[in-house]
This record gives sequence, structure tokens and C-alpha cells, in this order.
Amino acid sequence: MQFEIRIDPERLNRHIRELAQVGTLPEGGISRLALTDADKAGRDLFVSWLEELSLEVRIDQVGNIIGFQPGRGDARPVLIGSHLDTVRAAGPLDGALGVLAGLEILQTLQEQGIHTQRTVAVVTFTNEEGARFTTDMMGSRAFCGELSVEEAWDVSDFEGACVGDELRRIGYAGDFPCGQVKPSAYLELHIEQGPILDKEQVTIGAVEAITGISWQELTITGAANHAGTTPLDARRDAGLAAAKVIQYLRELAKGLPDQRATCGRLSFLPDVINVIPGEATLTVDLRNGDDTVLKKAEQQLAEYLASLVEQENVEISSRMLARVSPSRCDPSVVALIEESARGLGLAHRRMVSGAGHDAQIVARTCPTAMIFIPSKDGISHSLAEYSRPEDIEAGANVLLHTALRLADEGMG
Ligand code: GLV
Ligand code: MN
Ligand code: MN
Repeated sequence: MQFEIRIDPERLNRHIRELAQVGTLPEGGISRLALTDADKAGRDLFVSWLEELSLEVRIDQVGNIIGFQPGRGDARPVLIGSHLDTVRAAGPLDGALGVLAGLEILQTLQEQGIHTQRTVAVVTFTNEEGARFTTDMMGSRAFCGELSVEEAWDVSDFEGACVGDELRRIGYAGDFPCGQVKPSAYLELHIEQGPILDKEQVTIGAVEAITGISWQELTITGAANHAGTTPLDARRDAGLAAAKVIQYLRELAKGLPDQRATCGRLSFLPDVINVIPGEATLTVDLRNGDDTVLKKAEQQLAEYLASLVEQENVEISSRMLARVSPSRCDPSVVALIEESARGLGLAHRRMVSGAGHDAQIVARTCPTAMIFIPSKDGISHSLAEYSRPEDIEAGANVLLHTALRLADEGMG
């Protein structure tokens, strides 16, 4: 009987479509990099939807937006959320799905007159992506006390603008204290962003663990010189050294179990066709679900860089941008997700997330798990990102029923 309650799929998909109009690029795709004007516009739309429901809305000191649907008792709330910021040229679902599904759950509870024991709240965390300010999962780190508010405000983007100033500029430097909300449990619905569910035609992934992530920026210094006249053995070519690092990352990934290694940004100075690059700056993204292996990857990269300094007669400095250990989801919440999927007649399987999520930060403070739905061809962080409306609906219904159980049964 309990499984008869359902979200409104038309409304959820309409909200997704409307938000997807915010930050569209002329060449296609969406760009709502954290704390830009487009991010502000997306936030404003979300807040207007929270206000239409007369929810209590709080904006905290790092710009996390939380809407509360009060429960019958004063026990700690069940929190549902994700993020509204995007990478550059993103699709419509990464992050937005989890936030808008949370909104949909609150609207469903209101419409159906369901009064849960616990408060149910929806959150959008600031700067999950780390695409502009390279401390990823920034809002959830501050929410959980892993990052102080001042540390968050001080982080700068590549042009030198800092989080504190940008929060004030867009009107989202709230005064609600970070750390005031202590959820009893956290749930995040997300697209898988990988190929497994789509390939296996399984609708629901119950996420058991989330990858560890290590981000660093390398600066390679050689010597700018003439491209035509400088003999090969006299070159200190920072560009060549950067290319060797990128090549090495693939070897590193191949040599360790389930290792990922990516260079996503690269720039040269002076960046001119007939000049040997005197400086190269590049980013390295290393990921593994096993922290011991991730540490080994960091170590092997450091050893390779030391050898490259000799080989290419360059200097290399490294700056750590972000580091998060792998997280395990709470087994009892994972089991509740599976029960909800079963109750709704949906095919499901357990899985590990290779993408980073706010859930991996929140998991360290309260019972947490994630629900995945299929991503067509496993594509995301791309304008080709797509999930079928019926899978979106299924995921949101699993989220609803898991939240209902958590809000009424209590988990401490
Ligand atoms: C965020 O989407 C990440 O996995 O980097
Ligand atoms: Mn995401
Ligand atoms: Mn993402």
C-alpha cells in the first residue's frame, strides 16, 4: 500500500527543462560555473520554487540553499540534495536532477498531506564541481565542518576572483551558520555518469561506495627560446615535458587496479607558434575507490616528475588543489534504497561511483547513500548527457520512498 504514493513526473521533468534554459551556451550545452551570473539565475529560479511551496528557506555562509518541510517532531531532519553548479558545456542533469527531485519530494508530501515525523529538507550545495574554484564539493565540506567558512571564502578562481566576494556579488552570502543543520540521514539522486546501468538495462543503482579524488596543479618551468634556431639538445621545453606527463598518466592508470588519471587543463607560456614553451601549467585528476592505491598513484606520479626534471632539464612544482578519500555509504540506507526499488518493481543493482559527489563528504557525518539512474551511453560532463524521462521518474520515486522510510522510522 505504501508504494502507491508517487511523485509527479511531468512537473519534475518540466522543472528540469526550465532550469536547463539557464546558462545555455550559443554553441550548445549549459554553463553554470559556481557563483557566476548564470549560477545566480539558476539559484534564483530554485528559490522561487521553494517559496511557491512556502517552505522555510535558509542560505548559509557559503551559499548553500536549504528548504525545510517541517516534521511532526523536532528530531534531526532527513536531507535530500545535490548541486546546481555545472562544468563548462554541461548537460541538464548532473546535480540538477538530485536538487529538483528533492524539491519534487517536498511538493509531493505537501500535496498528499503527508506529515512525516522528521523534517524533510532539500539542499543545493555550492560549487560541487570545482570547475571554477578548484576545491570541489566546497559547500558540503563547509556544511560538514571539513572546511572553515573563511577557508572557503578565500579560494580564488583562475582569474583571481574569490568565493567570498563572488558570493556577495550574486547575493548569496547568507548568514545561516554552516554546521547548524545536523541531518539524521542524507540521500542524493544522481545520473550514473558511467555506462553500467545503461548497458545492463537496470533502472536503479544503489551506491555502496564513492571514489577518492586527488587534484593537483603542476607548473613546469623550462626556458622560452626560438623554435627555429635552438638545437634539440639545448632546449628546456616545458611543453614537451607536459606532453610526457599526460602520456605517463595513461601508463599510471593502466598499471594500478581501477585507477583513473586525467589531465583536463593545459596552458603554455608564452603560447606562441614559434616559441618553445617556457612554462606549462596542467592539472592532474587521480581517482581510485581504494585509498591505498590512490596514495600509490600519487607517489608514482611524484617519482615520475622527479625523473622528468632530470630528463628534460626543467623545474616542476606541484600544488594540491583538492583531496578526498573514498567514502562508504551506509549499508542500512543502501538496503532501504533496494527495498524501495523492489517495492516499486524496478530492476536494481549495487554499484560504486567513479564520480565525486557531495554525498561522499556528508557520508562522514550521517548515514548516507545515493541512488543512480542510467546515463545514455554513459556520457556526462558533456552536452550529450541524457537520461530517459521514465528513468528520472523511477529514480525520484525510489528517492521518495527511501526518504519516507527514513523520515518516519528514524535512524538516531
Ligand atoms: C564531479 O562531477 C566530479 O566527479 O569531478
Ligand atoms: Mn554531480
Ligand atoms: Mn559533475
